[in-house]
Amino acid sequence: MRTEVAIIGAGPAGLLLSHLLAGEGIDSVVIETRSREYVEARIRAGILESSTVALLDAAGLGERLHREGLEHRGIYLQWPGERHHLDFLDLAGCGVWVYGQTELTKDLGRARDVAGQQLYYGVTGTAVHDLDTDHPYVTCRTADGIEMRLDAEAIAGCDGALGPSRAAVPGTAKTTWERTYPYRWLGILADVAPSTDQLIYAWHPDGFALHSMRSPAVSRLYLQVEPDADIASWPDDRIWDALATRLGHGQDGWALTPGPIAEKSILPFRSYVMAPMRYGRLFLAGDAAHTVPPTGAKGLNLAVADIAALAPALTAMLRKNSTALADAYSATTLRRVWRYTHFSWWMTTMLHTTGDPFDAQLQLSQLRWVATSTAGATGLAENYAGLPVDS
Ligand code: FAD
Ligand code: PHB
Repeated sequence: MRTEVAIIGAGPAGLLLSHLLAGEGIDSVVIETRSREYVEARIRAGILESSTVALLDAAGLGERLHREGLEHRGIYLQWPGERHHLDFLDLAGCGVWVYGQTELTKDLGRARDVAGQQLYYGVTGTAVHDLDTDHPYVTCRTADGIEMRLDAEAIAGCDGALGPSRAAVPGTAKTTWERTYPYRWLGILADVAPSTDQLIYAWHPDGFALHSMRSPAVSRLYLQVEPDADIASWPDDRIWDALATRLGHGQDGWALTPGPIAEKSILPFRSYVMAPMRYGRLFLAGDAAHTVPPTGAKGLNLAVADIAALAPALTAMLRKNSTALADAYSATTLRRVWRYTHFSWWMTTMLHTTGDPFDAQLQLSQLRWVATSTAGATGLAENYAGLPVDS
């Protein structure tokens, strides 16, 4: 089979790229290891920056988001005895949207269906070949067991942190940076109305906690846990007790309402960047090239920002025979990647306890400054609510 762009991965990055390329009349084929049901039900990100929303609007993908998403003007930052509101609209001129990655993935999938996109779910054995030539190709086995060879002008590696694209770039052609953290998150999805109007990020001596949400009837909450924590040692009652303590149940009359837990899991937690984000005709985007810990709510937004740069770069390369944007793609994109890698690391190290009493005092001092100084609060607001896509 022949196409212009072979896209590996039907997560937000791969689906959005196929959508934007189709808008320019460029043909692509998307291959994905998981089933469509699995991809669309996978609970992950929940916060969209305003620049992400603007891009989705411009691409004709924002209708349901505006109808069902929740627009938040800021977040709460808290530690025992104190809760402070940071108003992003006042501080940085824009807010954020709560809209589950599951919903965005469904919207993207539906838009691709309408356009007649060639999408192969359930493939196995994905491999990339001849990347340093003008005729790269991808091979895999389809869900029906048919061996497929996909010849393309370019390959987009949108296959996340564990896909084959990252690994296909030879060690001599890339530099990688990595940071692991001595904790992980236990996340739950609960069928109960959120106990807050906006997200609460809470520092606590027992560990960090976050109160997020998906809708007026569904809450999403996270707890900092040990890196080797076993989900079996976290029965529902223990989870709700820990959340109540860390989120300040009873503080100034605030109450956390527990409810039935529909899903719970322990999440990986690390920072990773690979550069350059291109090797010959293979272009990496989203989690395939970089991973951030979720504390800054940046992973999905970074994936969208990468695609906002990659789609015009591939369009210029394939339609105008101009490689300037493709040649600049990695350097341009990595500026934002590093900004958000720093922001995610900074939020993470400010809010997660390490057991070291000196660290705890520094964290509390930093939190007090961020929450009470306009300069401190504005720095957080600008990074969280979003820098312009091309910054
Ligand atoms: P993915 O969504 O990982 O998609 C990659 C796709 O490639 C997958 O569907 C995978 O199955 C497929 N694939 C893998 N291998 C192959 C192969 N061999 N062949 C074909 N296909 C393959 N980000 C935010 O911005 N805000 C948040 O609030 C936020 N919260 C998060 C909470 C959690 C619990 C987690 C885990 C992540 C969170 N993130 C958040 C990060 C965000 O979910 C990811 O950054 C985002 O999914 C990246 O999109 P992607 O398309 O690059 O990669
Ligand atoms: C989420 O709702 O899943 C979420 C929100 C904010 C974060 C991380 C995850 O920082």
